[in-house]
Amino acid sequence: MSKTTVPEIRARKGGDKIRMITAYDTPTARIADRAGADMILVGDSVANVVLGHSDTLAVDVDVMVHHAAAVMRAEPDALVIGDMPWMSFHVSPEQTVINAARFVREAGVGAVKIEGGRKRLPVIGAVLDAEIPVMGHLGLTPQSVNVMGGYRVQGKEAEAAHELISDARALADAGVFSIVLEGVPDRVAQLVTEEIAVPTIGIGAGATCDGQVLVIHDVLGLGGGGYRPKFVRPYASLADEAVEAVGRFFSDVQSGNFPSGDETYHMSDEAFDALETLIRSDDLSDS
Ligand code: KIV
Repeated sequence: MSKTTVPEIRARKGGDKIRMITAYDTPTARIADRAGADMILVGDSVANVVLGHSDTLAVDVDVMVHHAAAVMRAEPDALVIGDMPWMSFHVSPEQTVINAARFVREAGVGAVKIEGGRKRLPVIGAVLDAEIPVMGHLGLTPQSVNVMGGYRVQGKEAEAAHELISDARALADAGVFSIVLEGVPDRVAQLVTEEIAVPTIGIGAGATCDGQVLVIHDVLGLGGGGYRPKFVRPYASLADEAVEAVGRFFSDVQSGNFPSGDETYHMSDEAFDALETLIRSDDLSDS
């Protein structure tokens, strides 16, 4: 297969549903790509999912580029999108372009994602002017957790939903190639999807979006328990399987069943006899 491009994603509006998932390192990127991802998001959710933080505010551009480069080393066919972390696009359009360019030059991603609506238009415009494709992200934007007062569904009331639709229109008009809609009522996501000419990618936004995204650790059941949002559907329980597998390794260690002869490096009888002779001659010369 050939590499998925931004124009190909844009052209999928209203067509085959777009498959997007997060990945944070080479193995998860390989899994996503082999499973047929159209897009891989190196999400700032790496902060929670991989690095154990309680929110996404903890990661900076260095961390994100480090993970994006690891994803790119899998050489995926999917379009890879680097998530611009908190404070990487809040200072100035110039600083935003410099940070976005690091994702492209140092990691090799094909696009970046920027959270927020109309107030982000100046920085989104600057990144687009630098020939870097931008994906928008509206609704429950986790970098705004402190302003939202927690991770709450957005756009539940008419006025807030109207604001969200206006944001989506403005972002699409500005030239983003796609918009993630996170944590919004399905009817609002449907209206946005009908209103704008670029694909919407839903997460907790109902079934009418042009595509869907989930965090790969949630899909694989690798989270190891804890709170699970209602929009997550685990397709495996790999954490449980992993605990069971490591436990079997430990029992084999304790019983002496690991390693077996096949799992061990061996020395030939001839070399071993020669070694014993050398040791004996050491003993003779010591006495
Ligand atoms: O960081 C992330 O994983 C995301 C997705 C949930 C859209 O932004």
